Amino acid sequence: MTDSDLDAVADLYLLGYDVSWTREGARAYIEKFFRFEPQSCFVAEENGLLGAVLGYSFERESGLILYIQELVVSPAARHRGIAKRLVATLRESTAKRPSRVNVKPLVKADTGVLNFYNSLGFERDKAVSFSFDE
Ligand SMILES: CC(C)(COP(=O)(O)OP(=O)(O)OC[C@H]1O[C@@H](n2cnc3c(N)ncnc32)[C@H](O)[C@@H]1OP(=O)(O)O)[C@@H](O)C(=O)NCCC(=O)NCCS
Repeated sequence: MTDSDLDAVADLYLLGYDVSWTREGARAYIEKFFRFEPQSCFVAEENGLLGAVLGYSFERESGLILYIQELVVSPAARHRGIAKRLVATLRESTAKRPSRVNVKPLVKADTGVLNFYNSLGFERDKAVSFSFDE
């Protein structure tokens, strides 16, 4: 992924999640995580943008952690193995094999997404998340 993909990835995010948000908002979100580690962000293209993965990595006491912040495939291009290939490309791109690969966004109870990660061999964490609304 390069800077020139930012607009298209923002549009893909809006389409892929079917959310009503401004393009500027989506673009700022995508750009924020693209800047973390551009070499860990990839796009899938075939006559236009079909999918994107935004990852970043860091060392912790347990070893190298690879985070998947965002993964989205165009609704019309799903079930063709594009997301699977994007995750494989990201994992292969890290010079050192990560001791752990985490998926950052809350996938909540979306069984499609859970099945997707299960099919790639991911196991569900026991971690819980906390939030504070005022
Ligand atoms: C989740 C998502 C990225 C999957 O993209 P995709 O390109 O369709 O996934 P793949 O084709 O690589 O799927 C690989 C395997 O995952 C499983 N899978 C994928 N989507 C699934 C679904 N909706 N229900 C059940 N299993 C699913 C299947 O086993 C599939 O293999 P198969 O097609 O040979 O049966 C896509 O549905 C998406 O963009 N969703 C909206 C955004 C989102 O929720 N992103 C994840 C947040 S981390």
